[in-house]
Amino acid sequence: MIILSLFHGGLRHGLLVTKGLRCCAAALAVSLCTVPLAWASPESLLAKMTLSQKIGQLQQSHLEAVTAEDIPKEVKEAIRQGRVGSYLNINTVAVANELQRLAVEEGPHGVPLLVARDVIHGYKTIFPIPLGQAATWNPDAVEQGARIAAIEASADGIRWTFAPMLDISRDARWGRIAESFGEDPYLTSVMGVASVMGYQGKDLSQGDSTHIAATAKHFLGYGAAEAGRDYNTTYIPEPLLHNQYLPPFSAAVAAGSASIMTAFNDLNGVPASISSYLMDTILRQELAYKGVIVSDWDSVVETVVHGGAEDNKDAAYKAAKAGLDMEMVSTSYADHLAALIQEGKISELEIDQKVLRILRLKAQLGLFEQPYTDIARQAEKKHPKFHQTAKEVAAQSLVLLKNDVPSHKKAAKLGKVLPLKPGQKVALIGPMVDAAHDQMGTWAMDGEKQDSITVLQAFEQAKVKGSVQYRYVPGLDFSRDKSTKGFKKAIKAAKWADVIVYVGGEEAALSGEAHSRANIRLPGAQEALLAALKQTGTPLVVVLMAGRQIELHDVLESFDSLVMAWHPGTMGGPAIVDVLTGVSEPVGRLPVTWPKMGGQLPMYYNHKNTGRPPQSRPFIMMDDYPLEAHQHSLGHAATHMDAGYLPQYPFGFGLSYSEVHYSDLAMAKRVLARDEAIRVSAVVKNTGLRPVTEVVQFYVQDIAGSVTRPVKELKQFQRIVLAPGEAKTVTFELSHKDLMFFNAKTQHVFEPGAFRAWIAPHAAAGKPLTFTVR
Ligand code: BGC
Repeated sequence: MIILSLFHGGLRHGLLVTKGLRCCAAALAVSLCTVPLAWASPESLLAKMTLSQKIGQLQQSHLEAVTAEDIPKEVKEAIRQGRVGSYLNINTVAVANELQRLAVEEGPHGVPLLVARDVIHGYKTIFPIPLGQAATWNPDAVEQGARIAAIEASADGIRWTFAPMLDISRDARWGRIAESFGEDPYLTSVMGVASVMGYQGKDLSQGDSTHIAATAKHFLGYGAAEAGRDYNTTYIPEPLLHNQYLPPFSAAVAAGSASIMTAFNDLNGVPASISSYLMDTILRQELAYKGVIVSDWDSVVETVVHGGAEDNKDAAYKAAKAGLDMEMVSTSYADHLAALIQEGKISELEIDQKVLRILRLKAQLGLFEQPYTDIARQAEKKHPKFHQTAKEVAAQSLVLLKNDVPSHKKAAKLGKVLPLKPGQKVALIGPMVDAAHDQMGTWAMDGEKQDSITVLQAFEQAKVKGSVQYRYVPGLDFSRDKSTKGFKKAIKAAKWADVIVYVGGEEAALSGEAHSRANIRLPGAQEALLAALKQTGTPLVVVLMAGRQIELHDVLESFDSLVMAWHPGTMGGPAIVDVLTGVSEPVGRLPVTWPKMGGQLPMYYNHKNTGRPPQSRPFIMMDDYPLEAHQHSLGHAATHMDAGYLPQYPFGFGLSYSEVHYSDLAMAKRVLARDEAIRVSAVVKNTGLRPVTEVVQFYVQDIAGSVTRPVKELKQFQRIVLAPGEAKTVTFELSHKDLMFFNAKTQHVFEPGAFRAWIAPHAAAGKPLTFTVR
């Protein structure tokens, strides 16, 4: 990479860069040029800026332009006058370079722009949606995905992404659960840190222009939208906020996330984008966060709509005072900050602090030394190696949820339906067998469907290799299709086959921002098609692609096998076929609790026990109620009389093609002094015939606290590989600090006492042992 070697040998932030060559558009088309301006440091630059130029740095504007010629006159003028510090939604190098040229050559003081884009789960090479990435339980996979996304995006001049989204998501109705790492604060923290590292590298200021700044979002509590309806009000009491919703952000801050985005929601009565509790008290004071705080799209002026500010001026005032640095898209800062300063409501010093943080980020990214992107880097996008990594990550994201021996006699002889057996005739049915666009999922803005390899294409490749034979009949044209006209042909194919592979679920557009659902069952006529297929007696393998858990309750019975594929991205097809045929082992585990019915939501494993947990109380399901039953005869437990209290599948669950046995849960010492290491071990054995990658999970319950504690919490996990017959002793070690939590006064405390510990394959498995820390 020429750009890197030149840069490494050359300029560094903090050094005085002397006047060099002037760039011209022609020079940009061929290679690099040196920046025209002398600058010493963000502080010295700030000293030269006028108030309006400073306020300009706080503005992030939206621009959609494909070529440099598309850049409107007003945009050019705004840059020349220093009225914008950043643009979002640029995705071509020509536009990025021309914007930078305008800024550094024609703008005041030559301050480069931050070119930003939502690069969420890949740029050109699309990886599984974040929820799918979380299902890998493999932070290395997440880091590699973000690294590749950063290389591809930076080749187009993008140096700032709005990812990772770290919102704890306990409600599958919420469309943005797809963009999350699930319901657990620890898993989300681990994956969030991996993602930040992948985008930014170890140190953003190392001068590597293939790294980009990350944004931990949305601060805070956005995932708790009431009824899972996007943008809805949130109420999250302390200490829940600190114990469940904050930890992934604390971890991202510690990992050096360059920016944090405020959320759209009203949290406990204060819209997040004007909340001084969130930005000042928590971020700046508690977490000592030094990076840039950016709003969400229009979220500052929307605080007026929330009823949190009187008008845009009041919103600008409240946002600025609360600690917001940069305003995304809306212009309340640009329109009102100068007047607010003149009126003495805000001081210029406060503005200076915000500007400095933005200039420092630009400096960290090396933009003062090299604002331009070498167009030769275009060749770095869509590298075959990236596709290979995307396939591996997609394969790891698949969760095998069910794999039975079919009841059908002939088929039963072959044992469990998956992996498929060589030579089997496969009927490929379902609306997502050939869904090049939809398999990329939500927020795949720059993914191109012609780069996707679908399940159908992957079966064709496998057929060419002689490993499968198949017939493809979609049955339904798209996931919401309600027409049954394709059923007849699908049934015919099913009768011909030894096994049906049904690929369905939800199109990409049924999850993601503003795409929440009240009914989370399979859309369209899919349930009817599945019922008809079951009638044929041919074993039925169901592969679901979806941005959330799907309510399967009464149709699940008819599946012999179920694989959750989320939206697996560009290489979803080959990854799925590899797992179905046993070329890859299924290794994914659920990063969310899977409800039986939508009415159970929100549902999460780390809930409180209640005073009447169903495990300890009798209760009767609705259909068993006697007529005119007496109110008190039915049991009084925290349950639904039609759904019970258990999920369909617990958090952390996932099968493999082998069998794994846990035993010998042990602690050398059960009573420990505060500073002693808490070591718990168990023996994990592969008792089956195939290799496994087992995600060994370590949960702890604090039995009693000054505020009641969850029934269990994931503290650590290890991914271990076991050959058939192999056993390993897996040890986890905690310190008492890992058992600390925020109490009712929001103090981070350790409370001595009794705890339970589990080492288990998922959140609902295993028997705990008890220990005491004094
Ligand atoms: C979303 C953010 C996103 C921003 C910029 C908003 O609607 O909530 O997550 O980064 O748009 O596209």
